[in-house]
Amino acid sequence: MTRAAPSLRRRARSFAFETVPPYWFGGDPWRTRFFDAFSSLLPIGERLFIDSMRRTAADLGDPELDALVAEFAHQEGVHGREHRRYNDRLRVQGYDLDGWDRSQKATVNRIARIADPRIPLAITVAFEHVTASMGQAILAHDLLAEADPEMKAFWEWHSAEEIEHKGAAFEVYTRAGGGPDLRRVVMAWCLFILGIRMGRRFAHMLRRERKLFDRAAWRHGVRFLFGQKGLARLMAPDFQAFFARGFHPWKDDTYGLVEAWEVGAVRRERRPEIGN
Ligand SMILES: [Fe+2]
Ligand SMILES: [Fe+2]
Repeated sequence: MTRAAPSLRRRARSFAFETVPPYWFGGDPWRTRFFDAFSSLLPIGERLFIDSMRRTAADLGDPELDALVAEFAHQEGVHGREHRRYNDRLRVQGYDLDGWDRSQKATVNRIARIADPRIPLAITVAFEHVTASMGQAILAHDLLAEADPEMKAFWEWHSAEEIEHKGAAFEVYTRAGGGPDLRRVVMAWCLFILGIRMGRRFAHMLRRERKLFDRAAWRHGVRFLFGQKGLARLMAPDFQAFFARGFHPWKDDTYGLVEAWEVGAVRRERRPEIGN
């Protein structure tokens, strides 16, 4: 049975990135820098998602849609704030975050100037599908089991909220008249751009740390992406679904993952109080 979107919850979360070790994912540079490269792209990306949604919702003048966009914007706003704090770690480690941001902002500004609002919305739909699909894989298969506990909590929180609001952008896109052909073409373009930008940052970090040709790191990486519970393998069916004509994120009911995460998260937060 398909449920419509659950109501989006506002969660005041903040994470202690200061104590996180440099290679926070099992001491492994490959998986650490994979997530770090992804994180470095998110604050500016999520800003574009919020702006594209608000711009269209304002034109449509539907109070129900306005409320959905407001809740979406709140969640993405907190994600952006926490990812900026996360990314400061990379700045401290000597990476040119400002230079990376400048180049990404130039692309985002070009997208924001496109007259047809369906284009930035289709981009939002595409990236929202990436983050929701990734979040589903992470929560369903405990992919961050070997990560530093704070980072695990951070990425799982973001994963849960991506699942929770996974249909919001799609809903606005559809209401703005966006159809399946545009979203499929845009998804192909977005995956290409994401691969290039993320790959460049990832390779830059590993090269600078002399880990780019580290065989153990690559073994971890290949297993992480293509092993039995590999991220790419787990995400592949979601992409097959996306390219189908009648796709809607709400048709794939994965909200049980959010509920299960919520229960686990509550237990984790209460544990120190019990000890006191
Ligand atoms: Fe997000
Ligand atoms: Fe999102």
